[in-house]
Amino acid sequence: MTEHIKVTQDGAVLEIIFARPQKKNALSNAMYGAATQALNDAQSNQAVRVVLFGAEGDAFTAGNDLADFASAAEGKRDELQAHHFIEALAQADKPVVAAVSGLAVGVGTTMLLHCDLVYVAETAKLTTPFVNLALVPEAASSMLLPARIGHARAFAMFALGEGLSGQEAFALGLVNKVLPKDEVLSTAREAARMLATRPLGAIVATKKLMRDKKGILARIDEEGAIFAQRLKTAEAREAFSAFAERRQPNFTKGA
Ligand code: COA
Repeated sequence: MTEHIKVTQDGAVLEIIFARPQKKNALSNAMYGAATQALNDAQSNQAVRVVLFGAEGDAFTAGNDLADFASAAEGKRDELQAHHFIEALAQADKPVVAAVSGLAVGVGTTMLLHCDLVYVAETAKLTTPFVNLALVPEAASSMLLPARIGHARAFAMFALGEGLSGQEAFALGLVNKVLPKDEVLSTAREAARMLATRPLGAIVATKKLMRDKKGILARIDEEGAIFAQRLKTAEAREAFSAFAERRQPNFTKGA
């Protein structure tokens, strides 16, 4: 259990809120564990018809906790919990809504590719700087992001760390609406409540038809294997040390 994930139920909507604003809602292993549990419970709980993700503070999430990446790179943890979270999200049959109040880094952006309705703040910034960390894309984003926004844009996001503003994400079809920051959560909640009134069987069947779940899960596995290898490289260790020491990384020393 962690106080950094708040799970509440409002009618048929289960809310999963990232609540670690002092660390820009960076997702620790404990947070992934709690969010995965909540997602899985939502699938089996008949009283839940919709899941909503939101966040406290200015950021949606700064992505995976880099201290956990650094520990994994040193072999101090057997397995990062992110993988289970991503799989649970990819497997979710019930609709998922996201309220993106601000910065969405790494998994903060790639998880949106698995959400069914996405509302973002005007001030939001979506980034997937995996290569800056000497890593590779995850959550099947190496397949889903180019499919949604084209190879060139997706490559620039992955390899150059280029970000998208809320408005750009909207123009590219990644999100449903761009809103003033303090209207994002209430708008997402309203949409979630609306979805909850629709016939769930038809929603689940529609979502299933719209997504190649088998292909997505296969890509998550493929990415996961390469990601795990990359985590242990000298390049990645240098990236994590540089972040912890608040300096620019130096990748010229070897792969
Ligand atoms: N993991 C762990 N801690 C993180 C974090 C992360 N991914 N992102 C931010 N934090 C922490 C910072 O270390 C800092 O902690 P401190 O106050 O104890 O020093 C706190 O959150 C605030 O972050 P800070 O960097 O001071 O805020 P900022 O507004 O200047 O920058 C970010 C915000 C998100 C742009 C910057 O923190 C960042 O680049 N984080 C890393 C993002 C990332 O690479 N995620 C992984 C993607 S795969």
